[in-house]
Amino acid sequence: NFVYFLRGLSFIAERIKEKFDCEDVLIIPGDSDRDETVKKQLGREAAAYLRSCLKSGDVIAVTGGTTMAQVPKGMPHLTGYEDVMVVPARGGLGERVELQANTIAAELAGRLGAQYRLLYVPDNLGPEAMESIVNEPGIREVISLIRRADIVVHGIGGAEEMARRRGLSEDVIRQILKNGAVAEAFGFYFDREGRIVYTTTSVGLSVKDLKNIRKVIAIAGGSGKAPAIRAFLKYHRPTVLITDEGAARKLLEIE
Ligand code: G3H
Repeated sequence: NFVYFLRGLSFIAERIKEKFDCEDVLIIPGDSDRDETVKKQLGREAAAYLRSCLKSGDVIAVTGGTTMAQVPKGMPHLTGYEDVMVVPARGGLGERVELQANTIAAELAGRLGAQYRLLYVPDNLGPEAMESIVNEPGIREVISLIRRADIVVHGIGGAEEMARRRGLSEDVIRQILKNGAVAEAFGFYFDREGRIVYTTTSVGLSVKDLKNIRKVIAIAGGSGKAPAIRAFLKYHRPTVLITDEGAARKLLEIE
C-alpha cells in the first residue's frame, strides 16, 4: 500500500484497469468526500470522455445522482449532435427532481444540442399499475430506445445511503443490508462480490442489457465509495471508470 501511496495516478489507473478488467480508468486528483470541487471535475472529465466516444445516431442513457448531475454542467454547449438521443436509464427511483435521470438527460441533451425522450413512471408502483403503464405506446417507445442504448453513463452509490435517500422502507433496507448489499447502481443493489441482491421496481434498463452496450461509463468518486465501486466493477466488465484519487487508492487497498 505504501507503494501505491508513492506512485502516481497513471500507475494506479493501470493497476485498477488490470485488477478489474476495465476498459479505461481515469482518475481526478483529490477526494470528493472532502472536496466538492472534485465532483465537478469528475463531471467535466466524464463529459469530455463521453464526447470522445460519441458517434452519430448514438443513444445515450444516463442515471441520476449528485455526481451524474455534474456531467451536463461539465459539458460545453455544442452543435453537430442533432441525431444523438439522450434518455434516462430507468424510470423514477425516488430522487429529488434536480438529481433525477430525466432532469440530467434533458440537461445533457440541451448541452449537446441533441434529442431527448423522458420516462414518466412513478416509483414503486404495484405490479398491475406497472404492467399497464409499460404498455402505453409512448412509454414503450422510450423503453425500447433505452434498451438499445449505445452508451450508458451512470453513478454508483453505497447501498445503505442510496436506499435511505430513495425512501425505501426500514424493513426493505434491513433486508437489503442483511443480503450483504454494499452498492447501488440503476436501482439494483449488489453485494461485495458483485451479485445482485435486490432490484427496485422501476422500468427501463435492465442490468442484463449492459452487455449489449458499446460503452458502460461509471462515474463515482470519494474514498467512502470504494467498496461500492469495487462491487460494481466485479459485476460488469469491461467498465470505463471515471473516479477520483480518494476512491482509486482505496480500491487497490481492499482485497
Ligand atoms: O446510483 C448511484 C447514485 O446515483 C449515486 O449518487 O452520485 O449522489 O452519490 P451520488
